Amino acid sequence: MAFDVTRVRAAYPALADGYAYLDGAAGTQVPASVISAISGAYEAGLGNSDGAFPASARSDAIMARCREAVADLVGGDPAGVVLGPNMTTLTYRLAAALAARWRPGDEVIVSRLDHDANVRPWVQAAGRAGGVVRWAEIDAATGELPAEQYASLLGDRTKLVAVTAASNIIGTRPDVAAITGMARAAGALSYVDGVHATPHGPVDVGALGADFYATSAYKWSGPHIGTVIASPALLESLHPDKLVPAPEEVPERFEYGTPPFADLAGVIAAVDHLAGLDAAAAGTRRERILASMAAAEAHEQRLFGELLGGLDAMQHVTTYGKAARRTATAYFTVAGHTPRQVASHLANRRINVWDGDNYAWELTGALGIRDSGCAVRAGLVHYNDQTDVTRLLEAVAELA
Ligand SMILES: Cc1ncc(COP(=O)(O)O)c(C=O)c1O
Repeated sequence: MAFDVTRVRAAYPALADGYAYLDGAAGTQVPASVISAISGAYEAGLGNSDGAFPASARSDAIMARCREAVADLVGGDPAGVVLGPNMTTLTYRLAAALAARWRPGDEVIVSRLDHDANVRPWVQAAGRAGGVVRWAEIDAATGELPAEQYASLLGDRTKLVAVTAASNIIGTRPDVAAITGMARAAGALSYVDGVHATPHGPVDVGALGADFYATSAYKWSGPHIGTVIASPALLESLHPDKLVPAPEEVPERFEYGTPPFADLAGVIAAVDHLAGLDAAAAGTRRERILASMAAAEAHEQRLFGELLGGLDAMQHVTTYGKAARRTATAYFTVAGHTPRQVASHLANRRINVWDGDNYAWELTGALGIRDSGCAVRAGLVHYNDQTDVTRLLEAVAELA
């Protein structure tokens, strides 16, 4: 393993501005290779899809290579990679397509751990179909989402289980494989939100058992693009609303309007960048991604131990979540200061963090902090270093 954070940081022009970027859970910075892939695509000349001239062929090639890159990132099939503007839009689209075959009394299971983008589309679609929503609850003391509860939530009317692969505020990584396994055994589909999980370690959609896996490139060093990965056969069974002349094939059937081809070139570059995070990684791109993301995870987790330990040692700080498996994402409050005051203080120290619910609407409610401005989120990604952690701890200590 050869994870060299100094080398990784040098790839990101934005990191030179002197700020500690602990806001990656809301969107990462992009490396120079992504910026030049986007501008390079425009410089080379792009056309709309499926034309007779080379600029159009270049756009089609970007699209095809982008599907391959995303498939390599998550262990999926390129023919099942749906590309779109962001996870929320794609999830609403998939929810509408799936709900078209739900009947009154059919059931969906959502969780209190999830970002609202993997809750509300299902709640609203079920409501329109006359369906029933069942809730998987968290253990508020630990922030875990116990998998066993799904045995009693699932039934023969369950159509879909929506669950996150990691909480975007407290980092909890539920036992997704156990949950999707139970869902499949009950005849239900699973929709796994991988938006927060994907940047923090290797992903294998097959091992997760996810029928649908959603992720957003802007959380893993790419541009603002979302994607949902499923098996082509499953996509084939769904019939979203679409324009008559638009492609009937999958995955194109789920992709509305003209795609942002240059940004998709940026997604390819982002995946290639992730594959190279571990300079010693060798083999196919998929193999290099697995090795690099494992190295990045080890780096993040080492720093996170220090970050969380440092916060927990401060009398005036309360941290949320104690899950056994979690991403390097801290969520905390500081006595005597609102989360916005803490975030502003940190901004004055040139440290970027988020405050508020971060759209973890149900989870902040279940933790009992939704009405109090919630908490402060400081998250680590592969480009964060020791200095970022030390600066955060010193700045929070000033608020005692
Ligand atoms: C866990 C999680 N799910 C879903 C989303 C929504 O993603 P998008 O902005 O691509 O719609 C986010 C965004 O912060 C997220 O963190």
